[in-house]
Amino acid sequence: MCGIFAVSGQEKNAGSVVLRGLKKLEYRGYDSWGVAIRNLSGGIEVDKEVGKISSVQHKFGSAKEAIGHTRWATHGGVTKKNAHPHKVGGVTIVHNGIFENYQVWKKKLNKNSFQSETDTEIIAGMLETSLVKKKEITKKEVAECIREVCAEIQGRFGILVMVEGVSGIFAARRGSPLILGRGKKETYIASDIPAFLEKTNTVNYLDDDEMVYIQEGKVEFSNLKTGALVKKRDIKVSWKTEEAEKGEWPHFMIKEIFDQKDTIARAINHDDKLLNKAAKLLQSANGAYFVACGTAHKVAMAAEYFFTEISGRKINVVPASEMTSFEKFVNKKTAIIAVSQSGETADVLEILERGKKRGAKILALTNVESSSIARLAHVHLPIKAGPEKAVASTKAATSQMALLFLLAFADSGQINFGRFILRSTAESINDLINPRYEERIRRVAKKIVKHPNLFIIGRKSLYPMALESAIKIQEVSYIHAQGFAAGELKHGPIALIEKGTPCLVLGGGQETVSNATELKARGAFIIGISPNRQDVFDEWLKVPDCNGAQAIATIIPVQILAYHLAVLRGLDPDMPRNLAKSVTVK
Ligand code: M6R
Repeated sequence: MCGIFAVSGQEKNAGSVVLRGLKKLEYRGYDSWGVAIRNLSGGIEVDKEVGKISSVQHKFGSAKEAIGHTRWATHGGVTKKNAHPHKVGGVTIVHNGIFENYQVWKKKLNKNSFQSETDTEIIAGMLETSLVKKKEITKKEVAECIREVCAEIQGRFGILVMVEGVSGIFAARRGSPLILGRGKKETYIASDIPAFLEKTNTVNYLDDDEMVYIQEGKVEFSNLKTGALVKKRDIKVSWKTEEAEKGEWPHFMIKEIFDQKDTIARAINHDDKLLNKAAKLLQSANGAYFVACGTAHKVAMAAEYFFTEISGRKINVVPASEMTSFEKFVNKKTAIIAVSQSGETADVLEILERGKKRGAKILALTNVESSSIARLAHVHLPIKAGPEKAVASTKAATSQMALLFLLAFADSGQINFGRFILRSTAESINDLINPRYEERIRRVAKKIVKHPNLFIIGRKSLYPMALESAIKIQEVSYIHAQGFAAGELKHGPIALIEKGTPCLVLGGGQETVSNATELKARGAFIIGISPNRQDVFDEWLKVPDCNGAQAIATIIPVQILAYHLAVLRGLDPDMPRNLAKSVTVK
């Protein structure tokens, strides 16, 4: 949620380096963009505009240092004034997060000169107010002021700060991600790795309450509370530049759907030791909860069925934002399983932090390795899907399901059997996804694209996939879509069916087919997604028979359908309105 990026180097093209890096972070927010450069005379110049950064061509003056931001609006509407960077006096700042008590400070500072409605400008105002009280302003004083100001902030933040008269860039974090990239003679700081991946894959992750100062190749980490210097380990990330690019593909979403030819097999490529360690964490617990949001939450719901059927373990599934109601059951014997693509989702992070304080054991499945959630966990299982940049989660979801399916087998002491099933699932998915199949689905999309409503039904692990299908279709095509447990239809939702209403029927089991027949009797247009054709289907999208892992294969044609519904409606599926890839605010 909001992408931020800074560079300090010897070349004089810092503005365009930051602009290019921000374009790679656009999935984090695309309401407005802005870049601040330190010109060669030391002054700070800010350029910002409303709109997506991807199409921006901008010429910057010469500069060796710059910071920038691509925004997902929280405080204040989508206007140029609210776009970052914010400059107050000699202080320029970009911010990812939420400053919860900013109104208190806005009043205290009593500055009529604030230009925007944002919380971020108040941080700039606070910094400037404390800096002008200093006798001289050097790097040491700026660092002190940042520590003082951050101590007053309630909420989550990742900030980048440039101060006139003091070279170098300062960054600090609490709750929002910040990663430092080490170039040869230049250093980068970003809220996600793709911003600088083409320059370097050697990184340092900032932890909460840490600060860093960079100037060209010089890097100084310190504790944000005490100022004490901190040593960091260099980490080489395995993501490849091409993986974070869409290349010849028209959109990231379709590229990432096709990536599933490889990613499912990769997700289960874990050694038994780690899987058994994760299984042990569950086995030693007395009560377990999945916590996750959005698509990851639907994945967890599917995994609830996997564990029930495979290892006979009952795991509660709670949307992270609702988990506080059940916290009284969390104690030293509880296992909390976090599922998150980004590993930065604020609602999940908060529950894990609170759960950890109560002594719970944390198991995390994330795609972004070394994300905040991964680092907080006692045991971390990376899903290895590679960068997922489209806002709609596709390959991460199937990788999470594959890994959780395997974990259920580890829990039942049959890893090899689980692997066997998943390998053949991965192979049949590899066969399934091809341009001919995509074209078949595009034709189905054309038949239903004009309908304002769409319903999806499924049973067992295909019930959460019906819910997930609804998320996919809603978020990229803006068509109203709703998923139901197939057996629930007759208890109310069937009243919504009219002549021609498109209904996706996930699975071809006898009971599901009966429910489809009930829909058809009321005029529904039935699109069946199952291994076998059924008479009731008006359209049939074949999926392989996956022996218990059916949810993984079944969601893929729906992802392709959602993609084409969006494209047929002239929408950009990678950047749906009002959304951002990584939701780092509560
Ligand atoms: O990064 P996370 O997996 O924690 O993200 C959770 C949700 O925000 C995410 O799945 C969201 O629902 C997607 N836009 C769905 O495609």
